[in-house]
Amino acid sequence: MDWSPTSWRSRPAAQQPVYPCPEEVESVVAIMSTLPPLVTSWEIESLKAQLAEAAAGRRFLLQGGDCAESFQECDAAQIASKLKILLQMSLVLVHGTRKRVIRVGRFGGQYAKPRSEDVETRNGVTLPTYRGDLVNAVGFTEAERTPDPQRMLRGYERAALTVNFIRSLIDGGFADLHHPEYWDLGFVKHSPRAAEYQRIVESIGESLRFMEALAGTTVGEINRVDFFTSHDALLLPYEQAQTRRVPRREGWYNLSTHLPWLGMRTSEIDGAHVAYLRGIANPIALKIGPGMTPPQLNELVETLNPGNEPGRLTLIHRLGAGHIDDLLPPLVEAVKKAGSIVLWCCDPMHGNTQRTSVGIKTRNFDDILSELERSFEIHERLGTYLGGVHFELTGENVTECIGGARGLTEADLARDYKSQVDPRLNYEQALEMAMLIARKARRHEGT
Ligand code: PEP
Ligand code: CO
Repeated sequence: MDWSPTSWRSRPAAQQPVYPCPEEVESVVAIMSTLPPLVTSWEIESLKAQLAEAAAGRRFLLQGGDCAESFQECDAAQIASKLKILLQMSLVLVHGTRKRVIRVGRFGGQYAKPRSEDVETRNGVTLPTYRGDLVNAVGFTEAERTPDPQRMLRGYERAALTVNFIRSLIDGGFADLHHPEYWDLGFVKHSPRAAEYQRIVESIGESLRFMEALAGTTVGEINRVDFFTSHDALLLPYEQAQTRRVPRREGWYNLSTHLPWLGMRTSEIDGAHVAYLRGIANPIALKIGPGMTPPQLNELVETLNPGNEPGRLTLIHRLGAGHIDDLLPPLVEAVKKAGSIVLWCCDPMHGNTQRTSVGIKTRNFDDILSELERSFEIHERLGTYLGGVHFELTGENVTECIGGARGLTEADLARDYKSQVDPRLNYEQALEMAMLIARKARRHEGT
């Protein structure tokens, strides 16, 4: 294949900021490309092998984190609580699916956002839209909104701080946090399913204690948990900067993340993002929105994974609870008919965003659950395997999505709404969601 990390530059690139000084972008890319990478090719290959097993029905993928990380929230407590919720959810999913769970965070570089408008107007003033901390700042002044290439460097450094802290937590005493004694289960009593949730948690506790007694050590030590990173490969100069060859392996690796994904608004077959992603050796994921037709999907699958390599391609559908019954089956049938090996994953967040009567962006817990449940059922009916879930969540108890055991309503949203972009499940909602998936998965296994 005639490809280089800069091949994308000859194609139209959607969702890119207009920098006032393009030369400065080049000098930042040059600096970034000399810095040490955030991840290694052997970790990337290990993830690819695990995703291949998931595609074959033997593992389950849990991918989650913020819609967008922010520079300001790059702090110890928030990173630790995000890791904690993902770890706890993964244990619930292991329990429900009886499969090993691959944990992938939306972190360590999830700083750039696609936007539907290029500009925003307030009180007669028009400025560039906020595209994530990697590009500009959220404040509504010209200085803050002007895209600044130095932010790529700051983002890369913060991604490095995040990944470094996550690696230390995993290597150190963090493993304790997966013990049910450390779970915040206050919400359980508000649910009609309280007894069932309690049973799940108790049974996880028993299995952990059993394994620890057997091995005479703690589970964290027995089985060092793996965490992988992922982000939307949106800002192409940033992605290009760390795309490298490595000794003793073929091809090019994006060493800024393990699993870059292609967002719904940047998946034109002839566009720059597809031109970039097709050439790297990482496993990649592709978001599938309601506008994608079965022939378009097959063309993308063929372009992004011409060798049909297992583990290379994860397809994340995000169709919305109201559309999934109509839209998912023809997409799945087309991929199946083409004989493509893919891992199917459901993002039940992005197709279910709504605005409240006062214009706040939210998502309803029941819609999210419903899209997930429909996904499990549709894949089962069609003989394919739903091998993953993708969430926007946080380890804090924010109030951004409505519903869940505590019954958050629109009136609660004002209390603790922090996201600058999409609404996330909070700690309790995320844990409850995992329990409901576990319940559903168990039922599909017939146990
Ligand atoms: C996202 O994952 O935050 C996102 C923007 O998703 P999508 O490309 O599916 O809309
Ligand atoms: Co989002």
